[in-house]
Amino acid sequence: MGYDVLTFLSLTTIGLSGILILSGLFFIKTGRKELHKKAMISASVLALLFLIFYGLKYFLYPPKYYEGPYKGIYLFVLISHSILAAVNLPLAAVTVFFGITGRYSKHRKVAPITAVVWIYVAVTGWIIFAFLQMGEVG
Ligand code: HEM
Repeated sequence: MGYDVLTFLSLTTIGLSGILILSGLFFIKTGRKELHKKAMISASVLALLFLIFYGLKYFLYPPKYYEGPYKGIYLFVLISHSILAAVNLPLAAVTVFFGITGRYSKHRKVAPITAVVWIYVAVTGWIIFAFLQMGEVG
């Protein structure tokens, strides 16, 4: 698969998954539990698809480096994004597990953290892409 196609698929899946998390939060705040469940499970499926596209890109193509005037900010965003993306994986797994097995008091404790981390990762994924468009080398 071509580099641009993989970039497009990564950005779309992670972006839609972030939008679904926001929708799922709205649904639970307005008491619609079934819709909440569907939105969050769809968000998780999209995040797994993202991992496949991202992984393919990582193995098939060399990395890109940002060499522009905002390198400090870029590195902060990149490093925090990478760490939180790794943290999000187990967080998402336990949040979904507590949700579908009906352990709601535990679910309510961990879920707000998961939601914030997830949205941060999705938004910063797009920001990193924008940085690379502005000042990439290699
Ligand atoms: C990563 C995925 C998920 C996130 C980020 C998430 C987020 C949340 C949040 C933040 C709340 C608390 C809302 C509040 O206190 O006002 C909540 C409640 C709830 N979630 Fe999820 N959720 C996820 C997945 C699921 C799944 C898969 C189910 C499956 C049934 C589920 C079922 C529920 C239910 C039933 C409640 C209400 C609990 C109660 O009434 O005490 N959630 N969720």
